[in-house]
Amino acid sequence: MCGIVGFAGNSPAVEVLLDGLSKLEYRGYDSAGIAVMDGNEIKMRKMKGRIADLTKKLESDPVAPAPIGIGHTRWATHGKPNDVNSHPHMSGDGRFAVVHNGIIENYASIKEDLIAQGVQFASETDTEVIAHLLEKNYTGDILETVRNTARQLEGSYALGVLCTEHPDRIIAVRKASPLIVGLGEGENFIASDIPAVLSRTRKIHHLNDNELVELTKDGVRIFSEELQPIEKPVETVTWDVRAAEKDGWPHFMIKEIMEQPTALHDTISPRIADGEIVLDGLSLTKKDLEETSRIYIVACGSAYHVGIVAKYFIEKVARVPVEVDLASEFRYRAPMVDDKTLVIIISQSGETADTLAALKEAKSMGGRILSIVNVVGSSIANESDDVLYTWAGPEIAVATTKAYSTQLAMMYLIGTYIAKTLGRIDDATYRALLADIRKLPEQVKEVIEKNNDFIKKLAEQFSYIEHAYYIGRNLDYAVAMEASLKLKEVSYVHSEAYAAGELKHGTISLIEEGTLVVALASHMPLLEKTISNIKEVKSRGAIVLTIAQEGATAVEDCSDYILNIPATHELLAPSLQVVPMQMLGYYMAIARGCDVDKPRNLAKSVTVE
Ligand code: F6R
Repeated sequence: MCGIVGFAGNSPAVEVLLDGLSKLEYRGYDSAGIAVMDGNEIKMRKMKGRIADLTKKLESDPVAPAPIGIGHTRWATHGKPNDVNSHPHMSGDGRFAVVHNGIIENYASIKEDLIAQGVQFASETDTEVIAHLLEKNYTGDILETVRNTARQLEGSYALGVLCTEHPDRIIAVRKASPLIVGLGEGENFIASDIPAVLSRTRKIHHLNDNELVELTKDGVRIFSEELQPIEKPVETVTWDVRAAEKDGWPHFMIKEIMEQPTALHDTISPRIADGEIVLDGLSLTKKDLEETSRIYIVACGSAYHVGIVAKYFIEKVARVPVEVDLASEFRYRAPMVDDKTLVIIISQSGETADTLAALKEAKSMGGRILSIVNVVGSSIANESDDVLYTWAGPEIAVATTKAYSTQLAMMYLIGTYIAKTLGRIDDATYRALLADIRKLPEQVKEVIEKNNDFIKKLAEQFSYIEHAYYIGRNLDYAVAMEASLKLKEVSYVHSEAYAAGELKHGTISLIEEGTLVVALASHMPLLEKTISNIKEVKSRGAIVLTIAQEGATAVEDCSDYILNIPATHELLAPSLQVVPMQMLGYYMAIARGCDVDKPRNLAKSVTVE
C-alpha cells in the first residue's frame, strides 16, 4: 500500500526522497510524487507511473535543491491512478501539502461540507479533504492544527504535512497505518517502513496511534494527542542493510525463497532448549490453556493458509477445536468469542487492516490474543496480549515465502507446546516431532538444492498454460491452497486448489487433455486415496506433477513428473512441500515475463480494508 517518506536535513531532499521511495516500491504502487519546501513556497511534482518516471520528470522539470520535503507512492483506492490523484495534495491557498497512507472513511461528508463552503477540489481522492481541512483549521500553531484535523478524520491514516508558515519542519501523525521516525546526524526522517531510512540511519522510533511528530533537521519531538511531549526509547535496527536489498539476486522473491533455511533456523532454534519448547513472551499458563474451549486462527491470504495447516495440526496433536477465519469475514459473522477463547492472529507485516480490525473485535469480546508477527513493534504486535515473532527478517517481495514458512514453523511449535502442556501427546511423539521440527531448516535447504534446476525446466515447459489445478487431501490440501496462490499471484496463471476427494463433485468437468494438475501427495496416511484421485484426473487427460515424499513409489506410475521431498513426520510435510511450490510460481512468472516482485494490482502491506 502507499508509501511515505519525509526528510529534513542538509542535503537536497529530492534525492533522499526518491531513494527512500524506491526502498518502499515493494509495497505496491501506481503513482509517485514529492513536495519540497523552496524558501517559503511548496514545490510539487507528481505523476502516474513508476519512481523511474518521476525521476525523469524531475530531470526535465527540476525543483530547487531544498533540504526538506515529503514523498509518496500511491496505491489507488479513491480515484483511478492518474497525475491529479497522485500525492502530495495541496490546500487551495498553497499553504499545506500532505501525503497520506490509509483511508479516510468519512471523507465524503467532509468533502460535501467543504464544497458547501466554497472549497474547490482538484482530485477524486479521500486525501485531498485533509489538505483543505488543514487550511480551514489553521490556528498559527501547526501541531495543534494537524491534531485538530486528525480528530475530524475517521478511518486510518499516516500523514506527513508541510506548511509554508513553518518551512523548517514536517509534522506527522498516525492512526492504524504504519509510520516510523528515523534519527540521523543533522537529518531526520519519517517513513512507512524501515528500509526507506536504512541507508542513512539505524536509529528509529515506532509511533503509536494518535502520536504526533515534529521533525526538523536538528531534532524530533513526539507528542501525545493531548500535545504532551513523549519520551520514547531509541530503537536500533539490527538487521543487515543487505537484508532489505537484492544482494546480487535478480528478484527479492527468489532471494527470500533461498533465505528460508536461515529464517527457519532463526525462528525455531531459540524456541527449543534442552529438548523442550520454550515460547518466549508467552504468558499463557497451563491453567489458561486448560480453560481454553476453542481456538480461532484469524488472518488474510497466505497467513490464512498457514492457519489451515495449523488447524489440522493442532486438532490432531492437541485435540483442541480450532476454527480458521479470513479476517475480513471474521468480524462480520458474529464469531463466538469469549474469555475462554484463544485467538491466534497471524500476520507478516503486523499492519494488515482487516487482521488488525478482527483482532480488536476479538479483544473487545473478551478473547485472549496471541499474535504471530514478523515486524517488531507493528500495530498487531502492540495490540496483542502475547506476541511470538517469526525471525524471517524483512520480507520485501509482495508474494510471501519465508514469512509463510516461519509462520508455519511457529504454529508447529505452538501446537506441540499446547499438546504437551495439556498432556495430550505421548513423550515419544513429542520427541519425534521436536526432532523433525529441528531438521526442517536443513531439509528445506536440501529441497531447494535438489529441485531448483528441475523446477526451472518444468516452468519453462509449462509457461504457456492458462489454468492449473492443485489437489490434495488433509494437510496436502492446506498446502495446495498456498501453492495455488503462489502460482496465480505472480505468474497470472489461473489456478485453483481443491480437496482431492471433492474434485469429482463438479470441478473434474474442467479437466481435459493437457490440463496441468499438481498433486500434493505427501500426507502418508491418505496416500492411497490421493493416488485414486490422481488416477481419476490422469485418465481424463491431465498432465500430473506430483509432490511426494521420497520412496513413495506408488505415485510414480500415475504421474508424469515427480518432485521429491525428504521423509519427515507426516504432520510436518507442508513445510517441505511448499518450497518447491513457491519456486514453481517464481519460475513460471519469470518464464512468462511477469514483474515478479511487483505483481499487478498487489501491495505488500494491505493497510486498507
Ligand atoms: C500472498 C501474500 C498475502 C499476505 C496477506 C497477509 O503471497 O503475501 O496473501 O499473506 O496479505 O499479509 P500479512 O501477513 O502481512 O498480514
